[in-house]
Amino acid sequence: MTDQTRRTFLKQAALGTAAALAYPSANVLGANDRVRVGMIGVGDRGNDLLGQVRGVHGVELVAMADVYSRRRDEAQSKVAVIQTFDDHRRLLDLKDVDAVIVASPLHCHARHFLDTLAAGKDLYSEKTMTWSIPEAEKCLAAAKDSGRVVQIGLQYESSGALVDAKQWIKDGWMGKVTQVESWMSRNTPHGKGQWVRSVPSDCTAQNVNWSAFLNGRPDRPFDPFRLINWRLFWEFSGGNCAENMVHQMAWIMSALDLPEPTAAYMSGGVFSEKDVREVPDTIAVTFDFPKDVVVTWQSTFSNKHYGLGDRILGSDGTIEHHFDEALQYWPERTNRSEGEDIKGKTHDQDHMRNWIECVRSRGTPNAPAEIGYRSAIAVHMANLSYRMKRRITLEDAKAATPGY
Ligand SMILES: NC(=O)c1ccc[n+]([C@@H]2O[C@H](COP(=O)([O-])OP(=O)(O)OC[C@H]3O[C@@H](n4cnc5c(N)ncnc54)[C@H](O)[C@@H]3O)[C@@H](O)[C@H]2O)c1
Repeated sequence: MTDQTRRTFLKQAALGTAAALAYPSANVLGANDRVRVGMIGVGDRGNDLLGQVRGVHGVELVAMADVYSRRRDEAQSKVAVIQTFDDHRRLLDLKDVDAVIVASPLHCHARHFLDTLAAGKDLYSEKTMTWSIPEAEKCLAAAKDSGRVVQIGLQYESSGALVDAKQWIKDGWMGKVTQVESWMSRNTPHGKGQWVRSVPSDCTAQNVNWSAFLNGRPDRPFDPFRLINWRLFWEFSGGNCAENMVHQMAWIMSALDLPEPTAAYMSGGVFSEKDVREVPDTIAVTFDFPKDVVVTWQSTFSNKHYGLGDRILGSDGTIEHHFDEALQYWPERTNRSEGEDIKGKTHDQDHMRNWIECVRSRGTPNAPAEIGYRSAIAVHMANLSYRMKRRITLEDAKAATPGY
């Protein structure tokens, strides 16, 4: 061993010890043991995930934490024996919880991520991994140090389309890829705001742990509209880049093995949804990547004609990806005259089952913190550019102070 490698080894060993001290060891599960799951934040998406995890063999749902009593009652009506809490820390204190699913609003993700790992539990956290870049840095480091199994709710990372796209690119059928176009279009009935949810009559200060929802945001009187419609406000949300673009960016970055963007520029505004929202409903983003690749993402809430999709454009071929449809490949006759049109054949994996299997095997799931991080960085670069009204580089974005 050279001095340099010995120093590195000693440093790593010291870090390993520090990490082991900082993160309690997880319960060791045998292949036939039940995985005991807790959930934090069981609103719309949390209820989907509750159904998904109950469908995985050998899982027992033992506890849930949600700040709103209505959500706790709903969970108990589905799983009578479940323990409920209005503070996620009480759930994390439970020794009989092995793994935790987080589906809270974006501004709470990092807190729930870090607390879950610090409690020695494995984690499934909804996308976008974090609300800001500094939080993303902390969560990635914690995921690495803790040795816990972390899956981000980027379910298209478990798609057969991703397996096929990677294979076709690896096999050289695309030639040099310089551009990717992606889009997400949705429409909204006249007079109804996209994403706007009505506030249930029982959503009162008595029934909500309001300070837990605020999670360090400036204190103020209970505001049920913001609790239910957190997506509309920068303080709690990352707008449509965090809600939808992140899925497509993660998929594109994985398919092409791209690192974080080097620069981003986002334009748009609140053009169609003239209500109290702060986050834009109309968006055009351009990302520069190393390796000579430009990726664009365009989105509207007032026309759904073109649906949702990605097109990877290469000198030798084109891949078109529509979510929930077979992947398509066409050769570019200019450079690949003998090539054939191909449809993707690989089946999707169940993203939740993939996580539970990794909790047992200690393997790496399909959407680990690392792709959660890279896709979160793209989201935050786009939003920072929009809010600063200028092109932003990765370095500038990392140095910027997130605000709302
Ligand atoms: N992967 C996907 O396809 C997908 C789809 C939809 C939503 N999501 C993500 O899921 C997350 C939740 O979205 P949603 O539509 O379910 O929101 P929601 O408002 O319906 O649900 C959030 C729940 O968290 C609770 N909550 C708020 N603060 C909390 C706290 N500090 N501790 C515990 N509980 C708290 C709320 O009471 C609510 O029940 C978001 O990050 C969203 O982006 C992912």
